[in-house]
Amino acid sequence: MHVDPGLKVLYFGTPVVLVGSRNEDGTANLAPMSSAWWLGQCCMLGLGNSGQTTANLLRERECVLNLPSSSMVDAVDRIALTTGRRELSEHKAARGYRYEPDKFGVAGLTEQAAELVAAPRVLECPIQLECKVVAAHPFDGPDARATAFHLEVLRTHVEEKLVIPGTSHIDPLAWDPLIMKFCEFFGGGGNVHPSRLADGWDMPHQMLP
Ligand SMILES: Cc1cc2nc3c(=O)[nH]c(=O)nc-3n(C[C@H](O)[C@H](O)[C@H](O)COP(=O)(O)O)c2cc1C
Repeated sequence: MHVDPGLKVLYFGTPVVLVGSRNEDGTANLAPMSSAWWLGQCCMLGLGNSGQTTANLLRERECVLNLPSSSMVDAVDRIALTTGRRELSEHKAARGYRYEPDKFGVAGLTEQAAELVAAPRVLECPIQLECKVVAAHPFDGPDARATAFHLEVLRTHVEEKLVIPGTSHIDPLAWDPLIMKFCEFFGGGGNVHPSRLADGWDMPHQMLP
């Protein structure tokens, strides 16, 4: 039997991303988020309009998507409830957010220069994607409290031990993403069944119809 519990949160399980961006004064900002999905060489991100990252992406038109492994959960959690924006929205103040200009320092993570964009990479993240903003769309109801960012991945950086030798594929058994399911962190998900989709994986534009 199914029920309608009136779900307030619809976070069914997505990878956590640390979005690196540049503030107006050139300093680095880093924001944990998880409303992210990829298709081909593009990515869609859902970001609230009260955040510093949204302002940075609209202005700079670029960012780095840093994907933490599940073992990095402490670092990610240390910068939860922080914002790089000086003025807190009413909602964020009520939720206990604080302004934090040094997210890298608080997280205990290391800033690393990117190659094609000015936004920072996170050295400790095994996967880093340098991106440009293709388009930004108002999102989340008539009062548009969020922005859906369409990004194009310009360059990937992948920890060598995650790459299947001699291929351009990540070993899904070696990559252990940090997953946010509802408001909790998960990791270590095992392979439950062989996948038919994995056959013919070398086709170009493999996930596109
Ligand atoms: C694990 C995790 C996932 C989050 N996912 C999102 C998200 O998908 N979209 C969003 O707008 N905020 C998300 N947040 C909240 C942001 O981190 C928060 O808005 C923060 O203020 C962003 O930082 P910034 O203001 O410096 O950009 C998430 C926070 C955590 C800890």
